[in-house]
Amino acid sequence: MTISKAAAIGGGVIGAGWVARLLLNGIDVSIFDPDPEAERKVGEVMKGARRAYRQMLPEGLPKEGKLTFAKTIAEAVADADLIQESVPERLELKHKVLAEIDLHAPANAIVGSSTSGIKPSDMQVAMKKHPERLVVAHPFNPVYLLPLVEIVGGEQTFPEAIEVAKELYSSIGMKPVVIRKEIEAFVGDRLLEAAWREALWLIKDGICTVEELDDIMRYSFGLRWAQMGMFQVYRIAGGEAGMRHFMAQFGPCLKWPWTKLMDVPEFNDELVELIATQSDEQSSKWSIRELEKIRDENLVAIMDVLSKTNGGKGWGAGTLHKDYVKRLGKLAKKPVSQAAAKAKATKPVKKAARAAGKKG
Ligand SMILES: NC(=O)c1ccc[n+]([C@@H]2O[C@H](COP(=O)([O-])OP(=O)(O)OC[C@H]3O[C@@H](n4cnc5c(N)ncnc54)[C@H](O)[C@@H]3O)[C@@H](O)[C@H]2O)c1
Repeated sequence: MTISKAAAIGGGVIGAGWVARLLLNGIDVSIFDPDPEAERKVGEVMKGARRAYRQMLPEGLPKEGKLTFAKTIAEAVADADLIQESVPERLELKHKVLAEIDLHAPANAIVGSSTSGIKPSDMQVAMKKHPERLVVAHPFNPVYLLPLVEIVGGEQTFPEAIEVAKELYSSIGMKPVVIRKEIEAFVGDRLLEAAWREALWLIKDGICTVEELDDIMRYSFGLRWAQMGMFQVYRIAGGEAGMRHFMAQFGPCLKWPWTKLMDVPEFNDELVELIATQSDEQSSKWSIRELEKIRDENLVAIMDVLSKTNGGKGWGAGTLHKDYVKRLGKLAKKPVSQAAAKAKATKPVKKAARAAGKKG
């Protein structure tokens, strides 16, 4: 199942990242963002994304999809089979925007929300026509490179919508992971929030600077996490006796004062100033665009290396990367015409809508 036309509602950091991934996969995108600077900002992200994809595909990129700036949500979502909502993280705004998307989108379209932590059940109450096609589709920045998308269904989401969403996001080189139970912040942001809270304490208490903290991460377990995650790495840390031994060894720490996790530092100007000043000392010699460039170059290089290990079969994100690059390479050689792509596309939640006896 492929996407014949997509809509992006919101074109900031994340929305523009989605636009880049979709366009670079040859898919037409219609975007709505009221920011008068939206076109320029999306253009900047596209420049970076094209550069990263050229690193992946030195022999040439597939023909890009066409990007249209719509004047209204209604105009943007018309004819789209995937609508990606990426507006700021405020429930009342998500409600307003999702209600409008729902009113005007084709009944069989999938609506994916990029929300970092709002439960889909709390958002789909605003969708009066077809709440069953809403899924959280939570990506990671930069969306055009990092493959993971957390898929979360709400109380009203049809299982078929989750299946269709998995296929649609897979078709643009992503790794959908369906979260089994709906919770705030899902899985990725739960983990990131835990590390972030600890980091704020460590800086506030003067244990280390932001630069030292980043070094501790990127010269050690950050490298391990990128290729094996947490549990596989700890299994090895248990030695030949594996996970059981690891747990026996470190289980008692749970009762020791090894974390300040449930306690939050006071979020005040002093804390913001401390972190921001140290961050300036660490990084102000580079602009954000320069940092994005080096981040992207590193990410492509890491995934490329991971695509060659394990006897050439690749490992983790590298295996997916290898397939993605191969598929894009084929697409670049044999551009699929829009008509052919349309013919291949299956209409998403038709089955689901039928099952509910609803009409669009
Ligand atoms: N930044 C991240 O790292 C990250 C990662 C994953 C998910 N998210 C989630 O993605 C969503 C967007 O975050 P972001 O970081 O891109 O924010 P952002 O502030 O960079 O972009 C939001 C965009 O939405 C636009 N917008 C505002 N009102 C709108 C409306 N009514 N209709 C259409 N567009 C509107 C704004 O003009 C802006 O361009 C949030 O839900 C956020 O939690 C963010």
